[in-house]
Amino acid sequence: MSDKNIIVGLDIGTTKVCTIVGYQKPNSEIEIIGIGTHPSYGLKKGQVVNVDKTVRSIKASLEEARLMAGMKLDSATIGIAGNHIYSFNSSGVVAIKHKEITHDDVERVLEAAKAVVIPSDREILHIIPQEYKVDNTAGIKNPEGMVGVRLECNVHVVTGEISLIQNLVKCVEHAGLHTQKIILQPIASSEAVLTLEEKEMGVVLIDIGGGTTDVAIWHDGSLIHSHIIPVGGNHFTNDLAVALKISHNEAERVKVNHGSVLKEKLNQMTSISVQGLSGTKPRDVSLGQISEVLEARAEELFHIIKNIIKEKELDEKITGGYVITGGGGLINDLPELAEYILERPVKVGYPQSFGGMTNIMRNPKFSTVLGLLIEGSKGKYHYDQEMPSEMVNHDILGRLSDSIKSVFKEIF
Ligand SMILES: Nc1ncnc2c1ncn2[C@@H]1O[C@H](COP(=O)(O)OP(=O)(O)OP(=O)(O)O)[C@@H](O)[C@H]1O
Ligand SMILES: [Mg+2]
Repeated sequence: MSDKNIIVGLDIGTTKVCTIVGYQKPNSEIEIIGIGTHPSYGLKKGQVVNVDKTVRSIKASLEEARLMAGMKLDSATIGIAGNHIYSFNSSGVVAIKHKEITHDDVERVLEAAKAVVIPSDREILHIIPQEYKVDNTAGIKNPEGMVGVRLECNVHVVTGEISLIQNLVKCVEHAGLHTQKIILQPIASSEAVLTLEEKEMGVVLIDIGGGTTDVAIWHDGSLIHSHIIPVGGNHFTNDLAVALKISHNEAERVKVNHGSVLKEKLNQMTSISVQGLSGTKPRDVSLGQISEVLEARAEELFHIIKNIIKEKELDEKITGGYVITGGGGLINDLPELAEYILERPVKVGYPQSFGGMTNIMRNPKFSTVLGLLIEGSKGKYHYDQEMPSEMVNHDILGRLSDSIKSVFKEIF
């Protein structure tokens, strides 16, 4: 097995750092051969606020994945989010040099579309082609080989603050890894969760993480808008902690085990016992009280999303509806509430299956890291030799860490 066929996805989230090691087979399929997860302590709302703590979490998750894969890891595709991310649409135009459009012409038109003035403290993370126009013909996905005199391209540009991007890259370097690519987290999650058909029809991906909710809007197969909202699952937990006067850990337990965002679906008089703040006795609270708090936060979040769509006048382009993913998307009854507010079909999106540890990873909280693995595999394939048989048949489940085993239990 060549190192060149090994891909590493590294998701440095607000609540967890997750590393996945994949082996890309000769037929381009990816087999997962290593997983590591560790709680994340150094981020707030998707941004690094403590380098030491972030590095420690990355190292721990990396070591776990490295041990399971049984090999040294050199570089990774990492995800980025946080409300320093700003995206917009732009376009570029060039004259076609030799009548027939070449790869070089396409590169030049993308460069032209990139030539927009952005503040000196920001850099371009992605420049994603939406459609090309050759002379008067629009809606072209791949213009290479076509004949014309004028090539135009509409692109979606994603920018981020240089210092915050560098902080993330520095943390990865300190943990002993080289950064191969940086991908906007909702682009990665979309890759893992959405089908090509959904992206064609027009769909909104909503990745509700711990610290942020990342939105990616697709139409005609291209990304047309992206947005990072600084509200995530942790805000739901904090609201519960404040309203019920309980610790953050207890609020997290209550949310995960008893939370719902639709009071009407519950027997509101049913009560559960919660542990009060230290020194106080356990108390009974009704499920109705719990869902009232969670419902208010969920309504606020979906109204923010609705306003983004309205402001950008994208409602008519979303014929495929909304797909919710990320760990925060697992609160009970979220799709029903979202459907009511957004007035479109809403479902929870699970990441597509991979070879190796398919079932364990099919949890919305792993959408980003699996998408990073797919993004990392693009254009990377080098086939040197077959995967050794001991690697193919190794006892993956037996080598799982306790943290991953607990995810496994959550699912089954
Ligand atoms: N079963 C569940 N029910 C409700 N909420 C859940 C469940 N499992 C996880 N969560 C919530 O999911 C959130 C974490 O999601 P995720 O792992 O996707 O975040 P992250 O990637 O670490 O953070 P971010 O993407 O914001 O940087 C937490 O707020 C957690 O409470
Ligand atoms: Mg995340």
